[in-house]
Amino acid sequence: MSFFKTIEKRRSSRSFSKKAVEKSKISKILKAAWMSPSSMGTQNYQVYEVVSASKKEKLVKATHDQGYVDAPLVLVFCTDPKRIKDMGARGKNLFAVQDATIAAAYAQLAATAQGLSSVWIGHFKEKAVAQTLKTKLRPVAILAIGYSTEKPGPKEFQKMKDLFKKV
Ligand SMILES: Cc1cc2nc3c(=O)[nH]c(=O)nc-3n(C[C@H](O)[C@H](O)[C@H](O)COP(=O)(O)O)c2cc1C
Repeated sequence: MSFFKTIEKRRSSRSFSKKAVEKSKISKILKAAWMSPSSMGTQNYQVYEVVSASKKEKLVKATHDQGYVDAPLVLVFCTDPKRIKDMGARGKNLFAVQDATIAAAYAQLAATAQGLSSVWIGHFKEKAVAQTLKTKLRPVAILAIGYSTEKPGPKEFQKMKDLFKKV
C-alpha cells in the first residue's frame, strides 16, 4: 500500500473478529515502531504486547469499559525516560512522551499498511494500566489491533485553513 493510501485508509475500528494477527505482521508493526524517530535516538519507550486474556480483561476495565481493548493484538506504549541524558525536565516529561507517541503512530500506520484495523486508546486510568502490566513506567497509548468487522463512517475534519497557517 502506498504511503498516502495508508494515511487515507487508516480509520479507527472498534470491533474486531477473533482472527489472530499473523506473527509476520506483528513483527513489521513492532519494527516500524522501533525505527521511528526519537529524542537523540535514545528510544525512551517500552512497548508491551499483551497476550494474556486476563490482562486484556483488566485493560478493558482500566479503559472505562472500552470492550474493544480485548482485541487480537494489544500494544501498550509506555514512556521509559531512563536513556534521556542532559535534557532536564523537558526530556523526561516531554521528549519521552513524544518518543512513545511517535512509536505508537508508526505502529498504527504499519498495521493499516498490512490490511489491519486499529484504534488508539488514550482514555484510561494510568495507574490501573501500569498495575496490569506490572510496570512502574507511564503508559501513554494503547493500540487495539485486528481485523475489523465494521466499516468506518464518514469523518469530519476541522478546516485546513484553521489548523495550518503561514507566518
Ligand atoms: C490521543 C488519542 C486518544 C484517543 N482515545 C481514544 C479512546 O480512548 N477511545 C476510542 O475509542 N478512541 C480514541 N481515540 C481515537 C479517536 O477517537 C479517533 O482517532 C478520532 O475520532 C478520528 O477518527 P479516525 O481514527 O477514524 O480517523 C483516540 C485518539 C487519539 C489520537
